[in-house]
Amino acid sequence: MLVTIRAVSSRDLSAIVQVAMACFPQDYGERKWAEAWHRGALSANPKTQYFVAETDGNIAGYISWSFIGGFQAGVIELEQLGVSPDFQGQGIGTKLINESLPQVQAWLKKNIGRELHAVKVDTATSNEAQRLYRKTLGAEVEATLKDFLYGNDEVIMIRRFNQKL
Ligand SMILES: CC(C)(COP(=O)(O)OP(=O)(O)OC[C@H]1O[C@@H](n2cnc3c(N)ncnc32)[C@H](O)[C@@H]1OP(=O)(O)O)[C@@H](O)C(=O)NCCC(=O)NCCS
Repeated sequence: MLVTIRAVSSRDLSAIVQVAMACFPQDYGERKWAEAWHRGALSANPKTQYFVAETDGNIAGYISWSFIGGFQAGVIELEQLGVSPDFQGQGIGTKLINESLPQVQAWLKKNIGRELHAVKVDTATSNEAQRLYRKTLGAEVEATLKDFLYGNDEVIMIRRFNQKL
């Protein structure tokens, strides 16, 4: 299966919404709210940068990264990662992270002249995705928030690049 990771285009909104509704049904409720959320986030580019995984003309997944506190700090958050249930477990989530992060990093270097300092990602303590973030980003849990989303505890995972000595 050939999977291409590419920057999003405005035509991808409805496919992203479809994947989002399948991956995070409890988060949005109705489709129109998923659409409103993603339309807003897409329009926040370059603060928020989306990439999609495309295979055979289908969008199998998406990832969005958001800059925190302006651009100068070089701190970004992996805001959302979703792979359609039909395509999960085939390495697409890994590929989305591995191939989009260098593009965000390159954007930061080229436009802002800064290096990436840290990547932050939050997930439920019960979520298997923690393993994925540890493996792909080298992120580690730095804090746990009690009763955050839907009564679940949430971990904040961080990968730092240029550590202060
Ligand atoms: C999490 C998610 C993006 C991973 O994408 P994917 O394409 O299935 O991931 P990969 O095939 O690249 O697998 C990467 C690793 O993550 C593990 N993994 C992570 N999340 C998983 C999940 N929800 N179900 C099964 N395995 C998962 C896999 O076992 C695999 O580990 P391994 O390589 O050591 O075997 C995808 O499962 C998904 O969209 N899940 C629902 C939404 C979600 O939970 N998103 C993250 C919220 S923080």
